[in-house]
Amino acid sequence: MAIKTSLVLVCCFLIIAVMAGSVAKAQLGLGGLLGLIRIQGVVYCTANGNIGVNGTATPAFPNALVQLQCGNGNVVSSSTTNASGLFSIVLDPVQMLLSTLLSNCNIIVRTPLSSCNSSLPSIGGLSSTLQVIERTLLGLLTITNIIPEGFQFLSNL
Ligand SMILES: *[C@@H]1O[C@H](CO)[C@@H](O)[C@H](O)[C@H]1NC(C)=O
Ligand SMILES: *[C@@H]1O[C@H](CO)[C@@H](O)[C@H](O)[C@H]1NC(C)=O
Ligand SMILES: *[C@@H]1O[C@H](CO)[C@@H](O)[C@H](O)[C@H]1NC(C)=O
Repeated sequence: MAIKTSLVLVCCFLIIAVMAGSVAKAQLGLGGLLGLIRIQGVVYCTANGNIGVNGTATPAFPNALVQLQCGNGNVVSSSTTNASGLFSIVLDPVQMLLSTLLSNCNIIVRTPLSSCNSSLPSIGGLSSTLQVIERTLLGLLTITNIIPEGFQFLSNL
């Protein structure tokens, strides 16, 4: 009898624990589903990583390691540019506050420019602050689109 009672108790605790867990998960999931932060940009194969005078004819910087760095060089996320020089990093606003991102984080291009053009420096890298360009709505999902404000070459990266 005593064993039966405790089995029933254990069983109920388990159910409650599982239910509490899924509620917590559902809330987190909902937070993630209702908003996303997307950082997207193109890195060009120029001395400063920005688009050149020839506009879209400017060569892209493919296969470049791109990092989102916050605070004192803490790498929060990373990505690689594709053949068009495009990179994309998606963040959950639950993990990263937009205000922190804009005030405290930079996009860093780690791969030296010489890897896309041997006349460019083989040391250093590129750095840019971030800027919100628009918010788009996709069903229930709000996507905050962020781009690099403009890269600069830093020889001591
Ligand atoms: C821009 O395009 C012209 C014509 O194709 C070319 O001669 C010139 O070198 C280009 N400039 C740069 C900076 O790529
Ligand atoms: C790079 O990625 C973008 C976005 O996914 C895509 O539109 C573009 O075609 C890609 N470029 C190449 C050359 O794969
Ligand atoms: C490589 O970089 C040099 C120096 O910026 C530039 O003059 C040259 O046009 C670049 N070459 C290509 C293929 O983009």
